[in-house]
Amino acid sequence: MKKLNFGCGHRFSSGWINIDFNSEHPEVIAHNLLQPLPYPKDYFDVIYSSHVLEHFSKDTGEMLVKECYRVLKPQGILRIVVPDLERTCREYLRIIDSIKNEEAKKQYEWIIIELIDQLVRTEHGGLMKTYWRQVLENNDESSISYVEARTGVDIQEEIASNNSNSLFQKVFSINQNKLKNKFKYLYLDMVKRLIPRYVRKSMLDETSLGEKHKWMYDSYSMKSLFERVGFSDIKFLDAHTSDIPNFSDEVLDINADGTVYLPGSLYCEGVKPNK
Ligand SMILES: C[S@@+](CC[C@H](N)C(=O)[O-])C[C@H]1O[C@@H](n2cnc3c(N)ncnc32)[C@H](O)[C@@H]1O
Repeated sequence: MKKLNFGCGHRFSSGWINIDFNSEHPEVIAHNLLQPLPYPKDYFDVIYSSHVLEHFSKDTGEMLVKECYRVLKPQGILRIVVPDLERTCREYLRIIDSIKNEEAKKQYEWIIIELIDQLVRTEHGGLMKTYWRQVLENNDESSISYVEARTGVDIQEEIASNNSNSLFQKVFSINQNKLKNKFKYLYLDMVKRLIPRYVRKSMLDETSLGEKHKWMYDSYSMKSLFERVGFSDIKFLDAHTSDIPNFSDEVLDINADGTVYLPGSLYCEGVKPNK
C-alpha cells in the first residue's frame, strides 16, 4: 500500500513517503508543496496531512487538495487534519460571554493568541512563546493546564528544550540535511541584511515556513473544498477513527501513550471516486 504524509515535520513514520520543505531526517524527502507533488497520477492509496493546509492561502490550499486528488488512486483516501476554526471561535465566545469572571479573563489571554497571533505574527514564536514563558514564571497552574489541554503541548517541556539546546547538542545532532537547511537560512539571512534596517522589520516576515496560519477551516468549508475537488464519502471523524486500514496503529494523530496529539482538530476524510 502506497501512503503519503505531506508536511510531516517531525511526525513521520516508516511505511510512508514523508515529505516536507524542512527535511532534517533521511526518511523525509525535501519538497516544496508550492510545486506539484512529484508523483504520477493514481499513485497513492492513502494521503495524510496534519496541520499543514492552514499554512497556505485559500487558493493554494485548494491547489494542494487538487494535487492530492490527482496522485490518489480511485478509491484512495485523503485524510486532512487542521485546527478547527469553529471550535476556537465557540471557545472565544464562551469566554467573552463570561468575561467578568476572573478565570475567563485569564483564558482570554490565551484564546486571543490562539485565534489571532497564529495569523498575524511576523516573528518566530510570536506572542505564544512569550505567554507560555509568562505563565510558567508565574506558576499559574490553571492557565498552564488550560493551554496544555487546548494544544496538547507540554509547555514546560517545550520551553525547557528550547532553552537547553546547547552548542554541544546542536553539533552532535547535525546531519547532511540539517547542514543544507542551515546554509539555506544563512543565505536568506545575508540577503535580508541588504535591506536597510529601518524598513527591514516592516517588510520582512521572520516566521519560519509553516509556522503561520494563512487560512482556517471549519467542517462546512472543509466539506465544500473536498466536494469542489471531486471527493465523495466525505466524513468528519476523530483522532482515534479512520477508514484508512490500521490507522490506529500509527503514531500520527495519537501519541505513543494513547493521548491525542493535537486536541481540538478537525479530522476530515474523503474518497476519490472510481472514474
Ligand atoms: C505545523 S507543522 C505540522 C507538522 C506535522 N504534520 C505535525 O502534525 O506535527 C507544518 C509543516 O508544514 C511544512 N510546510 C509548510 N509549508 C511548506 C511548503 N511550502 N512545502 C513543504 N512543507 C511545508 C512545514 O515545514 C512544517 O513541517
